[in-house]
Amino acid sequence: MKTKGAQYVWFDGKFVEWEKAQIPITTHALHYGTSIFEGVRAYGSKDNLYIFKLREHIERIFRSGIIYSIKINHSIEDIMNGIISLLRKCNIRESCYIRPITFVGLHGIDLNVSLNSPTHTVVIVFPFARYFDPNGIKVGISSWRRIHDSATPPIAKAGGNYLNSVLATQECKRNGYDEAIMLDKDGNVSEAPGENIFIVKNKVIYTPDMSSSILMGITRDTVITLARDLGYEIVERPISRTELYIADEIFLTGTAAEIVGVTGVDGREISNGREGDITSSIRKLYEKIVFGEKTPEKYASWITPVW
Ligand SMILES: Cc1ncc(COP(=O)(O)O)c(C=O)c1O
Repeated sequence: MKTKGAQYVWFDGKFVEWEKAQIPITTHALHYGTSIFEGVRAYGSKDNLYIFKLREHIERIFRSGIIYSIKINHSIEDIMNGIISLLRKCNIRESCYIRPITFVGLHGIDLNVSLNSPTHTVVIVFPFARYFDPNGIKVGISSWRRIHDSATPPIAKAGGNYLNSVLATQECKRNGYDEAIMLDKDGNVSEAPGENIFIVKNKVIYTPDMSSSILMGITRDTVITLARDLGYEIVERPISRTELYIADEIFLTGTAAEIVGVTGVDGREISNGREGDITSSIRKLYEKIVFGEKTPEKYASWITPVW
């Protein structure tokens, strides 16, 4: 973070002032990317602050830990309660981003990280609004292929994995796009550097399945449920690059990005350069749920009130 977020961070179960939360330069994660983390959002509305799918995010960081043998010295409940208590301690009432991270500390310079390696878990929070232009974004296919399960497993949300996302983002920005789309090792559409992708063709919604090297996004999962509840057919299967060019609609999903329409791919216009109707109907329902005030009863368990 370039600037200070909240007054305190949650550091191994204790509140520490933001400026005083420091780590040694020999921290293993700094050298080798040995960290696992989450990105969670809380939405401020008139009556409360609601965390979206808190348990799902914390369960995923534990799964990431299993994959890389990085131990989290707390229970799922401890971290969930830690997040809620941090938001209260910092008196946060407006929309914010929550970043829990567990990283390998003073392990030495060898790479044999195990469940005995020392780790720390920190939660930081900072105010956060929109990530992308809500009117839609233009994307370009990256020449960098998405990492694969046989190398650095993309289903783990781990620090080192994001170097792949950095390369794709740098390239797309150099080429004047808002966001990159990466192909998997076989040339099928995988995902964006920090979002999952969906396309709409003849009113059917498609999204790449697990075999396309994706992070199993929590927003992706939410959108699959909402789309079905709205009566749309949704299919998880490999998607080829050219299917993007002829899609009726495309949208990206992610905690930071939320649901954002794609209005162009590689210089080809999608859905007349506007957010498509199906994208719009799913996005509106999503927004109704996350802000907490008008959340339909059937989705009430997805949001956790802070106050
Ligand atoms: C590589 C990648 N794919 C997809 C996503 C979307 O996941 P989620 O909806 O859980 O935020 C993210 C963000 O966490 C991501 O970093």
